[in-house]
Amino acid sequence: MTRMSRFTPPTIKPPTQPLGVLASLRAMRENALSILPEIAFTQPIVTGKTGFKRWHMVQGPEGLRRVFLTNADNYPKADVIIRMLRTAVGQSLFTSEGAAWRWQRRAISPVFAARNVNALASIMTRTAHRACERIEANAQTGPVEMVREMISATFDVICEVALSGKDHFDAEHYGAAITQYMLTAGRASLLDFIDAPLWMPRPGELLSRGSVHTMHKMVKQAILERQQTGPAQDEDLLDYMIRAQDPDTERKMSTQDLVHNMQFFIVAGHETTALALAWSLYLLANDQAVQTHARQHVQSVLTTGCAAGLDDINQAPYLEQILQEAMRLYPPVGFLARKALANDQLYDRDVHPNDTVFLNLYGLHRHQDYWSHPNQFNPDHFAPENVVARDKYLYVPFGAGPRICVGANFAMMQAQIILMTLLNRFDFHPSDPTPKPVMQMTVRPDPGINLSISSLK
Ligand code: HEM
Repeated sequence: MTRMSRFTPPTIKPPTQPLGVLASLRAMRENALSILPEIAFTQPIVTGKTGFKRWHMVQGPEGLRRVFLTNADNYPKADVIIRMLRTAVGQSLFTSEGAAWRWQRRAISPVFAARNVNALASIMTRTAHRACERIEANAQTGPVEMVREMISATFDVICEVALSGKDHFDAEHYGAAITQYMLTAGRASLLDFIDAPLWMPRPGELLSRGSVHTMHKMVKQAILERQQTGPAQDEDLLDYMIRAQDPDTERKMSTQDLVHNMQFFIVAGHETTALALAWSLYLLANDQAVQTHARQHVQSVLTTGCAAGLDDINQAPYLEQILQEAMRLYPPVGFLARKALANDQLYDRDVHPNDTVFLNLYGLHRHQDYWSHPNQFNPDHFAPENVVARDKYLYVPFGAGPRICVGANFAMMQAQIILMTLLNRFDFHPSDPTPKPVMQMTVRPDPGINLSISSLK
């Protein structure tokens, strides 16, 4: 679609002067986007000091390639990330390093192979249909808040595919425990940025212990039951994980390994995907021309009102472009943090051991030098000819290199099935208030995304 003017969705105006130590720490806790200076959108690297801590913020493709890939061993995850997650997901794939990471990666990668993920598509179609029923009912009384709707849709999917249904699993109780966890341990603590030792418990961590205990108990119960009964009728993610083994050593997951990894899949897998969907719907509601164009693609494949399946999404690649563009503007994971082990050089900067290296995906995706009209919504950024012509490290919502997201295919398939189903069933229009992007662990719209929705049936 060639057009002159395009929708420019909300962003945070960068401060022209760097914030002081306390203001940065406060802002980091409230909304990390508000500490990104203007030069984080025009330079490939920004270096600074907070207290005694030296840090670099990287938003250029060459620097990201070095940290993610060519010198990845020098940049393990920063302690702050491990701290935020360790109570909930222990030594899972996401939170481990070195040998503990390598064997789990070898065992878990095949679990997410295309053959396995494709086999889960019909479950996603059923849950997309259920999501429409809920939205239809809620839309009767006025605008609908779509983050909540999308979280319940993707949570429904992960419960179905990770634990084969919610019959023996109280999803509401579990969902409440996740929310409690996110409000406590899920927030960066001041202590994390001044490098207090890892063994010192943080206030958020203590507050979250009860919710973590509830989540672990429920996931463990589901795993123990499955280990006793054998595979589900239609095999699911848990069956694949129970069978998974390191092809080199034949090591399999203990019950504890399974609890931690399944727990991570459930918590991390559903909120990120829901945010990608909610932001996509917000952008479409505000650009009726793109929404109509997308619906034409959908309706050339599906009868109005029907839910989409695996074959349908493969025939509507424009929807994938919309999701990719939404994750460019609002990458669900906007920032990653690494710690340098040895001396290195990134651009013209010397990196010293123990420096923190922030990978600024939000800044990269809106960088003035690398994108044309970076703040506008334009799914043509992902037209095949533009993707082929671009450096791969200019767009990395799932990370890159050896630690790239293992669930990326799963997430994209689920998001495309849900988006296609929704566009085939409803028309979306914006409603107040305008959401503001806020980044804590993920980039969320504050206070949410309210849309007016009418049924196409
Ligand atoms: C739109 C949805 C998602 C986004 C944007 C996303 C983003 C990411 C990113 C950026 C990383 C790299 C972290 C780093 O390098 O520090 C990552 C890793 C990971 N993701 Fe995702 N993710 C999504 C969905 C999922 C889903 C659905 C699952 C599983 C069901 C999943 C499981 C994982 C795991 C296990 C890792 C760690 C891989 C490793 O360290 O070897 N993610 N994700």
